[in-house]
Order: sequence, then C-alpha cells, then structure tokens
Amino acid sequence: MNIRPAQLDEVETIRALFEDEVRAGRMLPRPAEQIAGAIDDWLVAADEDGRVVGCVSLVVFNRRLCEVRSLAVHPDYRGNGLASKLVAGSVDLARARGLQRVLTLTRAAGLFEKLGFRRDFVANFPEKVWRDCAPCPFRHACDEIALLFDLA
Ligand SMILES: CC(C)(COP(=O)(O)OP(=O)(O)OC[C@H]1O[C@@H](n2cnc3c(N)ncnc32)[C@H](O)[C@@H]1OP(=O)(O)O)[C@@H](O)C(=O)NCCC(=O)NCCS
Repeated sequence: MNIRPAQLDEVETIRALFEDEVRAGRMLPRPAEQIAGAIDDWLVAADEDGRVVGCVSLVVFNRRLCEVRSLAVHPDYRGNGLASKLVAGSVDLARARGLQRVLTLTRAAGLFEKLGFRRDFVANFPEKVWRDCAPCPFRHACDEIALLFDLA
C-alpha cells in the first residue's frame, strides 16, 4: 500500500470514499471542484494495482496553522493502519511546508492520540470557528473532538 499525492483523475474516487458518511448525515458532501482546486493538499492510499482506497487532506489557515481533514478509508481496507499512515503523511506535509500546528476535528480521537495529537478546544482556534463551524449545519449538534499536533 502506497501513500502518495492525489491526482486530478482521482477526484471522483475520493468523493466516493465519503458517500456512506454523507448519506448517514455525518459529513457534508465535498464538491468535486473544491477537491480538484486543492489537489496538491490531498494524499491518497493506493494498492498495488493503483486503486485508491483511502484519502486525507490538509487545509492551511495561515502560515502557522493547518488542519487534517477528510480522512476516510474504504470499509474493506479498514483496521490495517492505513488511516494512521495517511495522517502521518499529512503531518509530514505540514512539516515540509513549514507549518507549526496541525489541528483536527474528529470522532476518531483515539486514532489521532496514538499518533501524538493532544486534546484541545475548538474555541482556541477562531480561524476554524469562523471559516467552517459558524456556517456548518451540524454546528448545534457537533460531536467532533478537537486535537492538536504541535510541530514547533
Ligand atoms: C476512521 C477511519 C478513517 C479509520 O481507518 P483505519 O485505516 O481503519 O484506521 P487505522 O487502522 O489506521 O487505525 C489506527 C488506530 O486507530 C483506532 N481507530 C480506528 N478507527 C477509530 C475510530 N473511529 N475511533 C477511535 N479509534 C479508532 C484503531 O483501533 C487503531 O488502533 P490500534 O492501532 O490500537 O489497533 C475509517 O474507519 C473510516 O474511514 N471511517 C469513516 C470516516 C471517518 O469516520 N473518518 C474519521 C474522521 S471523523
């Protein structure tokens, strides 16, 4: 299994990885144009035949802070450490870009804690609150936990 940058012709495959979550009302759909427009910020996990089975993205807020987002692994491939490798890859990407802090909001807090993320509060990140939380339709019933990885 290979963790590598996503390619433009993989946008629909990436979107399909979120279908179940979107259908279950746990995630908002990601427009294809939004993924394509930031394709350099996406990593995918691909098997030996090149089939994309997992993805993650890095969203940059400013010169210091970014967020690991849109983590998903195809149900047939879960439980093999792929999500952990994708998150580690996105932290490496943040480090390579000179960023200092990596935020995530997730229902899978244990996964991130095993990788060195520490629990925090989303209110400590107004960049995130104003850009994403304020307009989010799930904001009154948010069950996501904020965690931070400090690269500095
Ligand atoms: C959550 C998800 C990405 C995990 O993918 P995965 O490849 O199975 O995860 P890993 O195998 O790397 O798991 C690493 C560790 O995290 C733990 N973990 C996995 N999913 C978890 C979850 N939902 N909550 C808490 N811990 C979790 C695993 O038990 C594992 O621990 P171990 O090393 O002690 O066995 C996958 O289940 C998924 O795509 N779910 C739907 C989308 C989603 O929930 N995304 C998360 C962002 S909210």
